Amino acid sequence: MSEALLSEAQIQRRLFELVREEFPALGRQVHGKALVYFDNAATTQKPLRVLEAMDRFYRAHNANVHRGVHALAVEATELYEGARATLARFLGAADPRGVVFTRGATEAVNLVAQAYLAPRLKPGEVVLVTAMDHHSNLVPWQMLCRARGARLMAVPVDEKGMLDLEGAARMLTGYPVRLFAFPHVSNVLGTVNPVAELIALARAQGIPTLVDGAQAAAHLPIAFDRLGCDFYVLSAHKMFGPTGIGALIARRERLQEMEPWQGGGEMVLEVSLEESVFAEPPLRFEAGTPNVAGAVGWAAACEFLRALPEGAIQAHESALSRALQEALTAIPGLRVLGEQPGKIAIASFVLEGVHPQDLALFLDLEGVAVRSGHHCAQPLHRRFGVSGSCRASLALYNTPEEIEAFASALRRSLHRLAQAA
Ligand SMILES: Cc1ncc(COP(=O)(O)O)c(C=O)c1O
Repeated sequence: MSEALLSEAQIQRRLFELVREEFPALGRQVHGKALVYFDNAATTQKPLRVLEAMDRFYRAHNANVHRGVHALAVEATELYEGARATLARFLGAADPRGVVFTRGATEAVNLVAQAYLAPRLKPGEVVLVTAMDHHSNLVPWQMLCRARGARLMAVPVDEKGMLDLEGAARMLTGYPVRLFAFPHVSNVLGTVNPVAELIALARAQGIPTLVDGAQAAAHLPIAFDRLGCDFYVLSAHKMFGPTGIGALIARRERLQEMEPWQGGGEMVLEVSLEESVFAEPPLRFEAGTPNVAGAVGWAAACEFLRALPEGAIQAHESALSRALQEALTAIPGLRVLGEQPGKIAIASFVLEGVHPQDLALFLDLEGVAVRSGHHCAQPLHRRFGVSGSCRASLALYNTPEEIEAFASALRRSLHRLAQAA
């Protein structure tokens, strides 16, 4: 047999070069420099096929869904429900009726807080979260606990940025926990939590679980049915889809025992002046005209990800994660928060005497986009004894060359900041 023309690594590299070409925004310049977009945990860029799917929808099929009998209404409804089925398939959920479209992960958490937990949570009971949760998976529970006289407790995070699993087990068995909500992946540390283990711990006590998958879906396969959680939430814009749409994926029996949380059109079967008969889930939780174009664009993003060979994203991104870690540890005085070995390519870092915002502004002048501040995770920053950090968060279209450019820009920025001080 003759030798293969290209090595595995070369094929992988070519594949991700092609992937990158799908993203027009990545080709632009910022302040006269080639853009290095390392703010993917905030939001990802969009591939052409997502932009084209949404454009096509508005040009040819635009109509309201579930209401009309004319051709466009039927097409729009088919596209919208087709998007629900595509998303379910992508997330490993056999039943698309468990997928409720929302405005995003935040709204999906609020939906569960208000429609599921609010009628069940009693004074003195506990909602368990973690010290690494995004504010979206903290504040809705805080508000609910205050309203019900319940307690919010948090599983601690260790110095490596990992959850204290023994602590979680103790809390789940030692307190009257009504729901355990935790992130699949930390948006600050990049830590990938042992989701199946955490769900199993809670299930052993009959405690329902909500997994915040906002930072997972662009990087890891999600097998909702196999995970066994009750609720999983995510946002399209963090996985190459449009803003303004996300979803709650839930076990069907959970949705069926939930009352609606918002009233209006679409979520009813029959309305009189006195009362209404509500639609079955998922429509019961989708009051008003939904974001149809958003759903269509999101489905295109799912198809885009599904078209990549199994394991390719993880292999590419774990190489990026290692390169990023190496580049950062080579900078004297720089401290990366958390150091889980298998973490995704996110690094939040601090430097003594350097304000994260100043550094992000200097990096921006070099064409490098990073996030500065607390990244909606103030308790986690406090845990690490800092009020904020700079965060570089990568995605499948980023390259080793960009990491080198970022590291050089970082050195130059630190030099300039030191001179300015
Ligand atoms: C871990 C995590 N959860 C939830 C959210 C909220 O997502 P959205 O603002 O799209 O609702 C984010 C956004 O940064 C996040 O990183």
